[in-house]
Amino acid sequence: MSKKNLPPSVRLLDDPVRVEIIDQRKLPRELKLLTLTAPADFYGAIYTLAVRGAPAIGICAAYGMYVSACDRYMENPRISAEELKKFIKETGEYLISSRPTAVNLSKGVNAVKSAAFGEDIPAMLGNMRKAAEDFHKADIAMCTAISEYGLTLIKDGDGILTHCNAGALATSVYGTGLGPIVMGCERGMKLRAYVDETRPLLQGARLTALELMNAGADVHLICDNMAAYVMSRGLVNAVFTGCDRVAVNGDAANKIGTLGAAVLAKHFGIPMYIFCPSSTIDFECKSGRDIRIEERPHSEITGLYFKEQIAPEGVKCLNPAFDVTPNELITAIVTENGICRPPFSESLYKLFGK
Ligand code: MRU
Repeated sequence: MSKKNLPPSVRLLDDPVRVEIIDQRKLPRELKLLTLTAPADFYGAIYTLAVRGAPAIGICAAYGMYVSACDRYMENPRISAEELKKFIKETGEYLISSRPTAVNLSKGVNAVKSAAFGEDIPAMLGNMRKAAEDFHKADIAMCTAISEYGLTLIKDGDGILTHCNAGALATSVYGTGLGPIVMGCERGMKLRAYVDETRPLLQGARLTALELMNAGADVHLICDNMAAYVMSRGLVNAVFTGCDRVAVNGDAANKIGTLGAAVLAKHFGIPMYIFCPSSTIDFECKSGRDIRIEERPHSEITGLYFKEQIAPEGVKCLNPAFDVTPNELITAIVTENGICRPPFSESLYKLFGK
């Protein structure tokens, strides 16, 4: 099956109103679509990583707020506006609790929750739909602008190391960290990508490799522990990653292993670029110490993606899903408003006028 034309990772459909997502757990072997209508569907899809990537889970949760409210209203057309607002508030809290690290999730939920006002339920639902669609459209614009800015950081023939997946699957279009590579290939550039497989859930091997091969990049999949080798051989001109929450001092949380790639990049004198839509900046968060890191089931390390469990029964594990790269290891943060250089506490405020 050709995966060249993947549908959007998240989309809103009507009659009946619902959200359709690509089940990213099945890629690249199978293109399976899932339909979501009730709060538990959205929670489950986000928690199990059927939909993943900070911007995509924000978009999915934003639509989830709207679609869940419609679903509740269709189930009980006599519900009062007060009761529906209570349901919307509870649904928001429930969805936000599905994954703690990506700030896009609460931003998507809150954008739609704040549109749930008034006593006229159809009007309220109309406002919620518009808020969710605007949140989605904003991501399309941000990813496109970020990709353009990122493209100014590379030239024909460059080699770029990626970690996790920050492509269209994780966003709406182009992606953030993968956006410049995809856009560069579209414009005829020849780019090599060294794709970290990204243990334990293999977002690099399964998703980034697929997206960059579809884009026409020269893709080389590597195990995470081969990054130092490719850098030491002079094959890597830049490291490009996305992020899940950036503090105002520029500390950036992203998929576990990003910190290791940043330390290596510093050692080898390779620029480390973090790609960050403003929906991923947490202006309430002073530094990386304020970022909550999600911990996930140990079975993801001991057995998932292996034919049988590979680790001894009962072994203790640590499975943090993210780490924080301190700002001093980051060369620049690429946003939709431009490229921020250190000191980030000044450049981020300057670009976003906070
Ligand atoms: O656990 P995941 O797969 O949701 O983690 C995703 C990442 O870490 C991405 O790099 C990040 O969300 C940015 S996606 C543009």
